[in-house]
Amino acid sequence: MQNFTFYNPTKLIFGKGELEQLKTEVPNYGKKVLLVYGGGSIKRTGLYEKVTGLLQEIGAEVYELPGVEPNPRISTARKGVEICKREGIEFLLAVGGGSVIDCTKLIAAGAKYDGDPWDLVIKKAFAAEALPFGTVLTIAATGSEMNSGSVITNWETNEKYGWGSPVVFPRFSILDPVNTYTVPKDQTIYGIVDMMSHVLEHYFHLEENTDYQDRMCESLLITIMETAPKLLQDLENYDYRATILYAGTMALNGTLNMGYRGDWATHNLEHAVSAVYDIPHGGGLAILFPHWMEHNLKVKPERFKQLAVRVFGIDPEGKSDEQTGLEGIRKLREFWTSIGAPERLADYDINDSQIDLMADRAMANGEFGNFTKLNREHVLAIYKASL
Ligand code: NZQ
Ligand code: ZN
Repeated sequence: MQNFTFYNPTKLIFGKGELEQLKTEVPNYGKKVLLVYGGGSIKRTGLYEKVTGLLQEIGAEVYELPGVEPNPRISTARKGVEICKREGIEFLLAVGGGSVIDCTKLIAAGAKYDGDPWDLVIKKAFAAEALPFGTVLTIAATGSEMNSGSVITNWETNEKYGWGSPVVFPRFSILDPVNTYTVPKDQTIYGIVDMMSHVLEHYFHLEENTDYQDRMCESLLITIMETAPKLLQDLENYDYRATILYAGTMALNGTLNMGYRGDWATHNLEHAVSAVYDIPHGGGLAILFPHWMEHNLKVKPERFKQLAVRVFGIDPEGKSDEQTGLEGIRKLREFWTSIGAPERLADYDINDSQIDLMADRAMANGEFGNFTKLNREHVLAIYKASL
């Protein structure tokens, strides 16, 4: 285990009816509020009315930025920054999923930065300051509600990159499982794959003596896998929604990965695919992750074996670590297929025509991955296996 400092200042407010806490939280930060939301789901579900009603009760002066896209775009963040600067916005409230929250993070930092906010995404500049913001989460998936990362797409140049800064932790996040009842089945599946992928990205590392961290990762994976099929049969079940919502936050808020660095290559591979094809992040991960695993099985077969035995219940008797590990990878793929996740890039009508562009985007910052480094040849091999 390496030395570490754990820092996570986000106040997590969880449970039925907790939206009311907007009335105590928002006034701590100012009166001029920019409400940021997506393509309209919050209007259809009635959440918009509830949020704006509560903001009215506390006398907030509300400005709006609707229309944040899934895979949020730099063009939308720029609009938000402009509103903040023009109107002197004091606080931002993101109501939606990871896309709305990620866009809000960039707006919050962009409002305190003199240049183009894209500079912060491509790391030409570091976000040293940001406006305060809070979130009302509506979908269990990314963990963005309790971390300091954000992923932004530049659709004009087919680029999608993650960036982050300690100044863009949400001040608070309100998670009411009831607000996730209306998440359609496909998006629920993508969210489940995404949070499992976050745990798996952590899990593949080369550090020794991470027994407790391993067990936390394994228990989270098992819990998600036990709950997901039941939830998908019963989308308005409070307990199942609550378990998955909590799991999604815990998968990527820093608590699982103290003392080591996970791999994160598959996320880079996926971001490159969705930069070119605009597919859902969780869908892309379901396709790519098992191929990344097969490709890297030999790097440390005992790690794959441990996952196979402890999480997928594979009997290792009389098998090599590699064989056991491979059976675990097959079980993972089977599980994702059984809940309805895509298996091949062809499921999104993606063939090899743009494979070089995808590889260019994946290689934008050179070789990547912490468990093992991927070069262009590896990237192409994984994409080809995923077609
Ligand atoms: O836009 P609206 O109309 O709100 O509809 C959304 C969107 O179409 C809909 N939705 C959300 N909550 C709903 C709902 N529909 C009905 N009822 C509800 N309660 O679901 C669709 C997907 O929403 P989105 O926010 O895009 O999903 P998600 O939370 O999965 O976010 C995906 C984005 O986050 C990035 C991904 O790359 C992608 O751009 N990621 C962010 C991370 C982070 N900041 O830590 C880490 C992740 O690995 C990921 O890369
Ligand atoms: Zn993810």
